[in-house]
Amino acid sequence: MVVGRLGFDGLLVVIVIVIVVLLGQQTVQTANILAVFSYALGSSYVLVTPYIQQLVSRGHRVTMISAPVTYMPDIEGVQHIRVAKLKELTEDLEIYEYEAAVPTKWYEASFIADYFYNCSKLILEDAGVRSLLHNASAQFSMVVLGVPHTDALYGFGKHYNASLVGLAAYGGAWNIDFLAGNSAPSVYEPMSASGFTAGLSFFEKWINLIFISEERLVERFIYLPRQLKLYKRHFAADSSSLLEMRRKFSLILLNQHFSLGRVRSNVPNLVEVGGMHLAQLAEPLGAELQSFLDGATDGAIYFSMASDMLEKWFPPDFHETMLTAFGQLKQRVVWTTKRQESEITSNNVYIRRRQPQREVLHHPNVKLFITQGGLLSLIEASYYAVPVLMLPVYFDQHINAERMERLGIGRCLNFHELTPKVVLEGIQEMLHNASYALNARELALRFRDQPMKPMETAVWWTEYVLRHKGADHMRINEQDMSLMQYYSVDLFSVLFGRIGLTALIVGFLAYTVATIALQSAHYLFKLSIPVVS
Ligand SMILES: *[C@@H]1O[C@H](CO)[C@@H](O)[C@H](O)[C@H]1NC(C)=O
Ligand SMILES: *[C@@H]1O[C@H](CO)[C@@H](O)[C@H](O)[C@H]1NC(C)=O
Repeated sequence: MVVGRLGFDGLLVVIVIVIVVLLGQQTVQTANILAVFSYALGSSYVLVTPYIQQLVSRGHRVTMISAPVTYMPDIEGVQHIRVAKLKELTEDLEIYEYEAAVPTKWYEASFIADYFYNCSKLILEDAGVRSLLHNASAQFSMVVLGVPHTDALYGFGKHYNASLVGLAAYGGAWNIDFLAGNSAPSVYEPMSASGFTAGLSFFEKWINLIFISEERLVERFIYLPRQLKLYKRHFAADSSSLLEMRRKFSLILLNQHFSLGRVRSNVPNLVEVGGMHLAQLAEPLGAELQSFLDGATDGAIYFSMASDMLEKWFPPDFHETMLTAFGQLKQRVVWTTKRQESEITSNNVYIRRRQPQREVLHHPNVKLFITQGGLLSLIEASYYAVPVLMLPVYFDQHINAERMERLGIGRCLNFHELTPKVVLEGIQEMLHNASYALNARELALRFRDQPMKPMETAVWWTEYVLRHKGADHMRINEQDMSLMQYYSVDLFSVLFGRIGLTALIVGFLAYTVATIALQSAHYLFKLSIPVVS
């Protein structure tokens, strides 16, 4: 009778719906997830927020430990634990002078080690976090956290016997490769700005190898011991258990994509999700900005040194320099700065503390983006096909900028040697040389051409780890290695042993040959003297 009333097609639809619902229940197992993000500097919550939102909308129950609400608004459906003191950490940073902030590699390393130690410490000592840890009924099957330099927080994974998922907001680096057990690490790139070379020539590769070796020592002897101290204190565990946790990452999501000029060999548990923050709906332009950009018949330029940049670290005449250069342009300029509107008199400049960056870049009249070269900004520029003029200031910005130059969509200016003339010439070159826009369009096509959107990729792999209870099978066998092997000490000794020996032999031979040659020349020269005279 039912068949009679619904018809065969109707029945088929019902069956399909039932199957889909059943399958759906089977594949979307919801889980308790603990997210721990200590960012109190930078726009990294822009990356994290849509990811957490997606997890919630898929039915997972997320508890999130993070900086106060000024850094990241509440996410609906998430149980937030806010660590108020993370705010003071940023305020403390403002007392550092720019020069003092990045003078040498060792100073930089101990400064960053201090900073991350403070982050982990403030989180672990927070009353809300303490009571979560003491709440016997709280259970999590997954802990998602920012990597690297958050080692003490891996203790959450141990405490809850949960799978560890890392989110690398600044993309891959050798230390992330090691967490993932990637046996083909990015040997050509040190992390630190001061140690950066492109690693193209043989000589540069060696320089990078030396820098990375230094960074390993820094990690081993500056970062780790301090994190280890916290880990031991708060999770009542020993150091071998931290080293074990460091080798237990189920998955690390990398905020990068090979189409953006950084090709790496990744093991299966390293997944590139660069651009996943674009899943968030873009903030609209608003009527005023819309008509400002619509009216930019000669084109417009977007200028932002990112919301997180501490403007007091800028060279003192930076704003005047830029403003003088902008004053000589036909183009209109949209500028994100903490400066007061009343201080700016040029009528081709539109300034606000915050601008809807993505929609500005998306506007067809915007022909150029002047940026410090932060990763998220460059991903957005690539997505919206806007050429970039970059003023890299610190950390990853130099390496990001260099990559954009190589892709032919940008140029760099030295942040500390800016004059109105230099800025103006930079802008004119970017606007008049059509190759930048052309390359930017090709890059955007490449970047957008992916089988799944980056956010879908991120969520799919996260749930894959849940479905397969940690997905240990994705890890390369390196996790079984001893500490010696883990730090590749054996590899290094063989490498240096062999290469060193070869170099020694070659050097000795060269010296011998040269000496013989010199002696012969000397002898011949001596012989030749009487002939000449
Ligand atoms: C870390 O915390 C200590 C003690 O509160 C403080 O003196 C130091 O300046 C902080 N360092 C950084 C880099 O945040
Ligand atoms: C931890 O989790 C794994 C896999 O999820 C399980 O096999 C193991 O028994 C758990 N250990 C404890 C102590 O609960």
